[in-house]
Amino acid sequence: MSEELSAQLDEELRRFRIEAQAVQDAAALYELQVRYLGKKGTVTQLRGQMGKLAPAERKAFGQAFNATKEAIEQAIEARREALVLAAKAEDLARREDLTMATQAPRLGTIHPLTRTRRELERVFRMLGFDVVDGPHIEHEQYNFDDLNIPANHPARDMQDTFFVEARERVVLRTHTSPVQIRTMLQRRPPVRIVALGTVFRRDDDPTHSPMFHQIEGLCVDERVSMADLKATLYRFVGAFFGQRLEVRFRPSFFPFVEPGAEFDIQCPFCRGQGCDVCKRSGWIELGGAGMIHPAVFEACGYDPEAVTGWAFGFGIDRMASLLHGIRDLRLLFDGDVRFLEQFRC
Ligand code: PHE
Repeated sequence: MSEELSAQLDEELRRFRIEAQAVQDAAALYELQVRYLGKKGTVTQLRGQMGKLAPAERKAFGQAFNATKEAIEQAIEARREALVLAAKAEDLARREDLTMATQAPRLGTIHPLTRTRRELERVFRMLGFDVVDGPHIEHEQYNFDDLNIPANHPARDMQDTFFVEARERVVLRTHTSPVQIRTMLQRRPPVRIVALGTVFRRDDDPTHSPMFHQIEGLCVDERVSMADLKATLYRFVGAFFGQRLEVRFRPSFFPFVEPGAEFDIQCPFCRGQGCDVCKRSGWIELGGAGMIHPAVFEACGYDPEAVTGWAFGFGIDRMASLLHGIRDLRLLFDGDVRFLEQFRC
């Protein structure tokens, strides 16, 4: 009886070793362990036979049983380690191709106009100006009346201005100058602001788009003069183009300034020598400027005896096309990627 039992123990161990070799993962190994050593495992059950043995045989069987159980446990441990090592080796043997091209994300570009606008804002902030905003849809009061533009002025003509609702006197702003009014109605002097944004006129040809962009500058304080205006423009142009360029005024008329001027800058491409960009003149016409008209101050509740001020305005699109050598202004608004992709930073 005892011999038969120990032979069975040996047989269990032999079978276990064969099966353990076939096991390929930890879960299967655990399952195998349960089948042999679990509560109802085949080896565990053999121990139940001990009671049938003669007392003299029990000790020997007990030792044999324990030896078998230990051998199985060791075999399990050995197999577990072997499996871990095999998994590590497999992991180390993996080879990634580091030279393989990945799908690079397609980056967009900053629109040349946006870049120009941000650069203008940066320079004017540096010169001590606040950047403010105004609505695109504007009341005639701010777009024309308060700017001293008379009711019969040709700029108000249906030919020049988009009227949103003729009877309500609402227009798409034709310039950024109404932001002067909005600012003065809200703030007390000293005022130093620039306003940048979209404006609308009924124009459409290679050098005029019905929608374009302007920057407006306004400075109001005690005793500010045309000399401050010129100095500011001079400093601005120097910082923007990164070189010393002359600024000149030519007498001109805008109803909301007196005296009024158009201003030119020395051509940044030839420094006044004459080139294609400046059409051999050495100068580039930039925009309008002048001292704030007393009627404008009065419309905003400022005392024209107590303060003086100046304003300027010019086209951002012209500035951007100048900088980038863009011949047709309308390319800026077509949204053609072949054009826009040329402006990678
Ligand atoms: N608003 C004027 C224009 O659109 C420009 C300008 C601004 C002129 C400020 C004088 C002062 O042409």
